[in-house]
Amino acid sequence: MRVLVIQGPNLNMLGHRDPRIYGTMTLEQIHQNMKVFAKQNNLELDFFQSNFEGEIIDKIQECVGSDYVGIIMNPGAYSHTSVAIADAVVGAGVPVIEVHLSNIHAREDYRKTTYTGAVSAGVITGFGAFGYHMAVIAMLQILSEIQAMRQAQAAQSGAINPQNSQDHKNDLKENKHDLKAEIKNEKKDK
Ligand code: DQA
Repeated sequence: MRVLVIQGPNLNMLGHRDPRIYGTMTLEQIHQNMKVFAKQNNLELDFFQSNFEGEIIDKIQECVGSDYVGIIMNPGAYSHTSVAIADAVVGAGVPVIEVHLSNIHAREDYRKTTYTGAVSAGVITGFGAFGYHMAVIAMLQILSEIQAMRQAQAAQSGAINPQNSQDHKNDLKENKHDLKAEIKNEKKDK
């Protein structure tokens, strides 16, 4: 399963930019750690960073109808300003998890609102680079919940229309098998 990781403006400067707020790890190092952990959990990650709002929107739109099953995104300062990126998140058709390295609620008032976070599945904020690791865990949890929901729905539609259910098909196969065994035994007895 493939997940897209989108990094917004100025995140390419991690490691050099305000290390007391954003830590000392570079974006490359953060991505490397995410990749290793994701692979251990059968997730493939693709990474994208841009300082341009429109490019971020284009990238989110690429998810529609693709084989991406989710997005992990730090939209940087655009979180607090971009209705356009928030609209793209709504249209993405896959769960989006927002990450902020710093705790946006403990900073300037203008950072406390996140338009993109408000339409995301959830927001992880204030745990530094570890927040990205948490986002992969959260994504795995959401994906397994979606899968469980789909299975329950399929089982339910099978119950409504038993001819289509896998259980029903398995039952038929087993019956056929039992019948063959019975005929064989009967022949042996004779
Ligand atoms: C940030 C928080 C934003 O307010 C800021 O503009 C960033 C980084 C974070 O990861 O803490 O660029 O998204």
